Amino acid sequence: MDIDLDFYNCKLINLPEFGDSERGLLTFFQFPDIIPFEIKRVYFIHGIGDLSKIRGPHAHKDTEQVFITIQGESTYHLDDGTNKKSLVLSNPNRGILIGSKVWHYMDNFSKDTIFLVLASSVYDEKDYLRNYDDFLDYIKI
Ligand code: TYD
Repeated sequence: MDIDLDFYNCKLINLPEFGDSERGLLTFFQFPDIIPFEIKRVYFIHGIGDLSKIRGPHAHKDTEQVFITIQGESTYHLDDGTNKKSLVLSNPNRGILIGSKVWHYMDNFSKDTIFLVLASSVYDEKDYLRNYDDFLDYIKI
């Protein structure tokens, strides 16, 4: 099922899945046919002890990222300055591309949630917009 996110810069990505419930499933991703950017960095969020906490919020000036909830559940909240959308991911065969200049945060985790993030750039704090008003000013440029 494809969900139209109605966002510039965001897209759901279906990851290939091979196998069955007996031997297990194999899911992969690669540039350029599945992930639309060269992956420069991979990180993952795990060990969320207080399920009322959020990750983020922030936006990136240039970095694009694909988020995959590889275990458990998480809700992704997206805001391009005009449109807002929230969606729940709970299947490791689906990722969400969050492009640059999209305000986002994640919450509603389950106690076993792990989400994997593929990023188009190495870590650079200067690429972050961590204040919502700064984000709105930046996207007007
Ligand atoms: P942060 O971006 O604040 O997490 P979130 O917005 O999801 O709550 O990152 C937490 C810390 O980790 C912060 O000190 C920066 C550091 N960090 C890296 O060193 N490299 C990375 O790739 C990322 C994503 C974060």
